[in-house]
Amino acid sequence: MPQAELVVVANRLPVDRDDSVEGGWRRSPGGLVTALEPVMRQAGGAWVGWAGQADHAPDPFDFDGTHLVPVPLSDEEIELYYEGFSNDTIWPLYHDVIAAPRYRRVWWDAYVKVNRRFAEAAASVTADGGTVWVQDYQLQLVPRMLRELRPDLTIGYFHHIPFPAYGLYSQLPWRRQVLEGLLGADVIGFQRVADAGNFARAVRRQLRYDTRASGIVVPEADGTTRVALAKAFPISIDTQSYVDLAQRADVQARAIEIRKSLGDPERILLGVDRLDYTKGIRHRLKAYGELLEDGRLRVEDVTLVQVASPSRERVAAYVQLRDEIELTVSRINGDRDTMGHTAIRYLHQGYPREEMVALFLAADVMLVTALRDGMNLVAKEYVAARADNRGVLILSEFAGAADELGTALRVNPHDIDALKDTIVRAVEMPAAEQGRRMRALRRKVLDNDVAKWSQDFLLALDQARTRTS
Ligand code: G6P
Repeated sequence: MPQAELVVVANRLPVDRDDSVEGGWRRSPGGLVTALEPVMRQAGGAWVGWAGQADHAPDPFDFDGTHLVPVPLSDEEIELYYEGFSNDTIWPLYHDVIAAPRYRRVWWDAYVKVNRRFAEAAASVTADGGTVWVQDYQLQLVPRMLRELRPDLTIGYFHHIPFPAYGLYSQLPWRRQVLEGLLGADVIGFQRVADAGNFARAVRRQLRYDTRASGIVVPEADGTTRVALAKAFPISIDTQSYVDLAQRADVQARAIEIRKSLGDPERILLGVDRLDYTKGIRHRLKAYGELLEDGRLRVEDVTLVQVASPSRERVAAYVQLRDEIELTVSRINGDRDTMGHTAIRYLHQGYPREEMVALFLAADVMLVTALRDGMNLVAKEYVAARADNRGVLILSEFAGAADELGTALRVNPHDIDALKDTIVRAVEMPAAEQGRRMRALRRKVLDNDVAKWSQDFLLALDQARTRTS
């Protein structure tokens, strides 16, 4: 087995199966994958993850300069570890119990077992004294398991979703084990300062460990202590690729075509989300529907395009959410549509990046109304695409991106009246104000791209290594 100096461990591999391309795999569209590609190529890195199909793990293979190590998951493990513990326990609990988390012991058992499998796979491909970077809530136990298997490694963990306040976190029957799992890492990264603070507080309350600034003093089995760093590293996007796409003539032509096909409304509002109850899609539809009903907006003048990409379709809360949203959309459209104009163009589909950027260029107002969101990269993508300094971003204060994107129109999505007023304000905003706000937003997103994020995190890990060696 080849040994790598840098190993990423994530629930999913950075590729998707596609039999129409040579080799049968294509790179996944996400920003994390794009950001790490040059780093992995340079380091001759390896990536440990699930290939996305049940009971089917191909042998390790090389892709774009990275060694990919598939971890098998059976159909039952997908149900218990991925759909169950990851997405029906941790996901709702960490997103402030917007949906009720379910605590099932068989799910936990599967989570432990699968985390161990990922840890063992990582342990077997990492070179002596190498670095492993674990990603996200599906793998919170991996840092500790890996440290026990390979004390020579430097271990990082990045948490892509929120970390909840202690009052909620303490519901988790396995709250100690999860904290101990995470504290196996030398550096634990969070999206917001508040998430790192919640984590440190949970550690103090639950484990009684000392915390000093961002450092947590972790006692080890041999009686020694070490300091783990827990701090914010807000993630971003590969900004330049959005800027480049937005400047392509075919993408700009497509934006005009989209506008035309919607009947050339004066204003296009846009929502782009995974179909998830954390995204506040219902709140957005409620506010918009009322604005049409009140006559403050007219269907002849505005259209809302809502892209809701399919997600976790076998988890009950997602099935129910889809039903509710589709009922609401068809009610609003049934009441408000005319032959020539639609209130909401609803698309339960995923699209390639080119089409998304064309949509961003066509959209006068971008609606990000998440009830809780680790970061929300769509907000950053919209800003990156608007090289013309036009367009208005409405941004929930409960999205991590709100910490950085201060000149967006901030909104509390639970306050429907305020959301309605903010939508009207965005629809009516003069071009000069749009430009002022968008320029400031763009500076943030251009200066802080995902390459900088990964450099900052890896630098912190490197410093952790020199501290302990
Ligand atoms: C969020 C999580 C990721 C996850 C993604 C898609 O962004 O932080 O870890 O990969 O959602 O969800 P899925 O369940 O399809 O992997």
